[in-house]
Amino acid sequence: MAGGSDKTFYLETFGCQMNVHDSEKVIGTLISQGYRQVATVEEAGLILYNTCSIRDKAEQKVFHRLADYKKLQAEGKKFAVLGCVAQQEGEKIFERAPHVSIVCGSASYRNLPEMLVQIEAGKSRVTGLDDRQTDECFETEFTARTNPHRGYITIIEGCDKFCAYCVVPFTRGKERSRTSESVLAEARRMAELGYTEIQLLGQNVNSYQDPLGKKSFAELLSAVGALPGIKRVRFTSSHPRDFGRDIVEAIESEASLCNHVHLPVQSGSTRVLYAMQRLYTRDEYLERVVWMKAAQREISITTDIIVGFPGETETDFEETLWLLDEVEYDGVFSFKYSPRPNTPALKYPDAIPDGEKSRRLAVLQEKQREIQRRRYQRHVGEVMEVMVEGKNEARGQWIGRTSDNKVLNFTASEARQPVPGSYRAITVTGSFPNSLVGEMVI
Ligand code: SAH
Ligand code: SF4
Ligand code: F3S
Repeated sequence: MAGGSDKTFYLETFGCQMNVHDSEKVIGTLISQGYRQVATVEEAGLILYNTCSIRDKAEQKVFHRLADYKKLQAEGKKFAVLGCVAQQEGEKIFERAPHVSIVCGSASYRNLPEMLVQIEAGKSRVTGLDDRQTDECFETEFTARTNPHRGYITIIEGCDKFCAYCVVPFTRGKERSRTSESVLAEARRMAELGYTEIQLLGQNVNSYQDPLGKKSFAELLSAVGALPGIKRVRFTSSHPRDFGRDIVEAIESEASLCNHVHLPVQSGSTRVLYAMQRLYTRDEYLERVVWMKAAQREISITTDIIVGFPGETETDFEETLWLLDEVEYDGVFSFKYSPRPNTPALKYPDAIPDGEKSRRLAVLQEKQREIQRRRYQRHVGEVMEVMVEGKNEARGQWIGRTSDNKVLNFTASEARQPVPGSYRAITVTGSFPNSLVGEMVI
């Protein structure tokens, strides 16, 4: 093969964990094709952006990057747009940014090697776009995982829920699950390589349907958790409609399943949930929260919320605020509603002015900050186990993460410095709304 090492690429990822993990697979695939990853745009022959389209701001980022680096085309550099904006905009990207050579959505990554060969052979433009017919998952033995202790495994791709505000069903294709056998085989391989934490991924990870009908989602969780060497299993995101009690029971009975559930609610108003086509009511959501609160092991709950959905009244918004009090989340990702292409909500009347959306967002975030201040403070005095993630040299503190997904920064005596990837018991000595501080016990 001619000079494999001078085929260089730079890849930047935007968006969710699914995208981060897709990038690990794309990187592995490119390396297997003789490419070498470099750290800057300047060093690279091929520049790839794995894009996100969830809100308008996310989508604009890639076009800013493409505009910033347009001049580099003169040096013979090639540009590729992957991911959700690629799928959403398709060939329109070539019109807006004529220096782009590859446009490829996530359901077509299997074809990337072939597409690269065409570009190397001199073809100026290639596309890989999904028509929502794809029923394969992007599985590859080449995944280039960046963290040696914690790794992602995609178990389900795409989404069939079609919430009224969301682009994902259009950008990631139809819902398709991997067999539990292939998920377990990958998890086993990772355990053998020394990974101790596995994060199962999917847009709606708990809508998982084993194509061979062998395991339910809860059974798959338990099976991954029972593998020798696996100390922690996480999963995200869960859709409330498909969130069964068996998931709570699995967490109760398998200590390696982390006691944290991310259960996006979006709104506390049944009326708004209906308009969003979320497929559950406020009460049905709260029923799931009650299951988790009744568990033998305390389960930390986090969520996503959208404020200012078209037609959201002040009363609807207050219902969301009350829900915060009722659930007492340990974390909330909150967003202003952003109108998205192809989605039904785009045509809904009664848009909320941006200023009002910002006000609601600020009110909600302030309230949640107070709730978290209390929630985090409860841990002071407790001994919690963390996986050591690294060190903040400037502050002389180690960074750890608890099973319930909280960041715990801690100090350790000079004589007993921990190693990243190890598990340590930490006494919590202080708290903030988003992190804990402590001292290593042993
Ligand atoms: N599949 C997950 C969510 C994936 S998108 C689920 O259904 O829960 C991550 C979050 O982005 C969503 O939970 C939602 O809160 C937010 N989001 C999605 N579309 C949005 C939009 N058009 N405007 C603002 N926020 C949005
Ligand atoms: Fe989007 Fe709804 Fe699917 Fe989540 S469930 S990815 S919010 S359409
Ligand atoms: Fe963004 Fe696509 Fe993920 S739109 S949030 S990168 S699924």
